[in-house]
Amino acid sequence: MIKKCLFPAAGYGTRFLPATKSMPKEMMPIVNKPLIEYGVDEAIQAGMTDMCIVTGRGKHSLMDHFDKNYELEHQISGTSKEALLNDIRDVIDSANFTYIRQHEMKGLGHAILTGRALVGDEPFAVVLADDLCINKEQGVLAQMAALYKQFRCSIVAVEEVPADETHKYGVIAGEALTDNLMRVTDMVEKPEQGTAPSNLAIIGRYILTPDIFDIIENTPPGKGGEIQITDALLQQAKSGCVLAYKFDGKRFDCGSVEGFIEATNYCFENIYQHS
Ligand code: UTP
Repeated sequence: MIKKCLFPAAGYGTRFLPATKSMPKEMMPIVNKPLIEYGVDEAIQAGMTDMCIVTGRGKHSLMDHFDKNYELEHQISGTSKEALLNDIRDVIDSANFTYIRQHEMKGLGHAILTGRALVGDEPFAVVLADDLCINKEQGVLAQMAALYKQFRCSIVAVEEVPADETHKYGVIAGEALTDNLMRVTDMVEKPEQGTAPSNLAIIGRYILTPDIFDIIENTPPGKGGEIQITDALLQQAKSGCVLAYKFDGKRFDCGSVEGFIEATNYCFENIYQHS
């Protein structure tokens, strides 16, 4: 039912400088696969076919990754290494990739609004590739797409975080519908220490209904002077319904060095095919 998945990937990735000076953060590999490919795999597993990527200056390697490299293909054709390209070939064959540039870094809300030209007027998923989510049975986006079928409203994935970390996230408050589903009643972007409405942090997986675009257009800059998706979602929650879903799976914050190393170790032990 949801065909399009938007990947805001225009950020500077400053926490990984100097690695991200000329290389997109989303292309940093967890073992042998770039972060964004994990996100695309998850979207394909959820039945999505159109990957809409919001890029910025210096992000050409993202586009090259999801395209054929004829010289490389020719070079390793028929050799024992050819199989190493199987996964990415399948990805390229299974999905369409479209790109749009965000000219100024005005925040995640603004990056999502920039994607409007690619998404159009239909519900869509959003993946922040630096949040790596692993569930070998059913990926987090597939779990959320199934919920969307039932509820037909925007859904954010949330995770319990320690109280001393809530200031790094958008944090929600809500009324429980089931053990792992809530109706959002409040949402605060990066609350000051000790002021968070709960310890449920929004992570980088969303399903959004297209009315969010008009709401973002009317959302003034918030925390950090950026247009925050959290502020727009609170508006949507007040005028309609937004759900918060405690997903089933593991999440690694690969936007931080510690999370990136943790994810690397986990994937090397549990996912990487050792030859
Ligand atoms: P982050 O703030 O985590 O990413 O934004 P960043 O800015 O790249 O990283 P640091 O903090 O400087 O290390 C969350 C996501 O939103 C995208 C980023 O690319 C990232 O995937 N984003 C953020 C945009 O695409 N445009 C923006 O204006 C802001």
